[in-house]
Amino acid sequence: MTNKFIKSDAFRSKIHDLIPGGAHTYSKGDDQFPLLSPAAISHGKGSQVWDIDGNRFLDCSMGLTSVILGHAYEPVLERVRAELEKGVNFQRPAYIEMEMAERFLKNIPGHDMIKFAKNGSTVTTAATKLARAYTGRKLIAFPGDHPFYSYDDWFIGKTVCDKGIPEEISALSVTYRSDDLDSLRELFEKYPGQIACVISEPEKNFGLPEGYLAKAIELTHRHGALYIIDEMITGYKTAFPGSLTKYKVKPDMATWGKGVANGFSFCALTGTKEIMELGGIRETGKEKVFLVSTTHGGETHNIGAAIATIDVFEQHDVIGHNHAIGDRLIAKCKEAVKSADLGDFVGIAPCNWMPVFIFKDREKTASAGLRTLAMQEMIRNGVLFQGVFVPCFSHTEEDVAHFADAFGKTLDVYAKALEDGFEKHLKGEPAKPVFRKYL
Ligand SMILES: Cc1ncc(COP(=O)(O)O)c(C=O)c1O
Repeated sequence: MTNKFIKSDAFRSKIHDLIPGGAHTYSKGDDQFPLLSPAAISHGKGSQVWDIDGNRFLDCSMGLTSVILGHAYEPVLERVRAELEKGVNFQRPAYIEMEMAERFLKNIPGHDMIKFAKNGSTVTTAATKLARAYTGRKLIAFPGDHPFYSYDDWFIGKTVCDKGIPEEISALSVTYRSDDLDSLRELFEKYPGQIACVISEPEKNFGLPEGYLAKAIELTHRHGALYIIDEMITGYKTAFPGSLTKYKVKPDMATWGKGVANGFSFCALTGTKEIMELGGIRETGKEKVFLVSTTHGGETHNIGAAIATIDVFEQHDVIGHNHAIGDRLIAKCKEAVKSADLGDFVGIAPCNWMPVFIFKDREKTASAGLRTLAMQEMIRNGVLFQGVFVPCFSHTEEDVAHFADAFGKTLDVYAKALEDGFEKHLKGEPAKPVFRKYL
């Protein structure tokens, strides 16, 4: 039983005086977790993490999906150490930048050039800027029902948290329903000749309508716009390198991050030469496009981590391992739901690259209270769970068994809470949505 959070409570009471939001992404914040949970992590190894009270947990979120091989994964660390010894930032590009560019692009059919950055938001924003420069158009289109594309104004201005963003900027982004060609077509008809690009994740956890991606790209091109696939989450998870090879499609640009350097800060924008060269400096006399330009974009140890991650994917069937873990976890949890007779209240997306759990109340409506209760009970049983399981190369059969055992015990409490209300069982408040107008 994990229920000792003494140092965590002290951390919780102090951190908000030092760091607005208490974390460096809102999705790690205290309002995303039950009160009975670790507030800070001390260290991780493989599929396990330890909090500052010394409690050990099976990790499910793996650094917001970025740690695809496992925490402190030795072959990656070896390469990182080697780069650290040589220095990490120089006045001219480091040699390793060329090695990385060649290694990464080799796996992306149709993309000739790459630009590095440290955060996903930097590259999604860069992609939209290139699209505007290429097409001479102003509007950016994305699926309004998808959770996140950037912390920059073109995306956040379209959420309920638009304070601080002029409405003139928000008006330059337009939305459609994901995976719905009619909705995308209607958007192009509403703004003829004005949309510079469509940026979208290639797929979410519930799959895609047959042939959707190819048709969406074709529709976008027919309207003179560019299609950007954001592989931040799907990259190195649905397939290697990502959904664009899985579905054999060629978007004009793609954006990468999270898993590509096993948690180290390496993100990238890839694209066709024609578009990416706009950010170049060779075509004398042509107007310059100020593409990504960052002090830390060429930092060598993160690039080393990214190369070592490619090595592991090329030498081992990481995708096969991770999908098998996802399949077994789904099968075991479905069995547990069935034997607890909770099929109407607990759903599991049939998505082996990232199983997602849905928690519903007696009216069969998604319930934040019950979801937070499920998190509390999983944590009590040693699983740091937030509703999603991200399989990584270090997850084992024993980890799946541990998860399933904790899940079974959680369902016992869940069944009681359906009868007498989650409030009787949950300590503290339900987790809140990251995107909410008021605190
Ligand atoms: C699909 C998608 N795109 C872009 C981003 C932005 O990445 P970063 O947090 O590295 O800026 C995220 C982050 O969660 C994401 O999920």
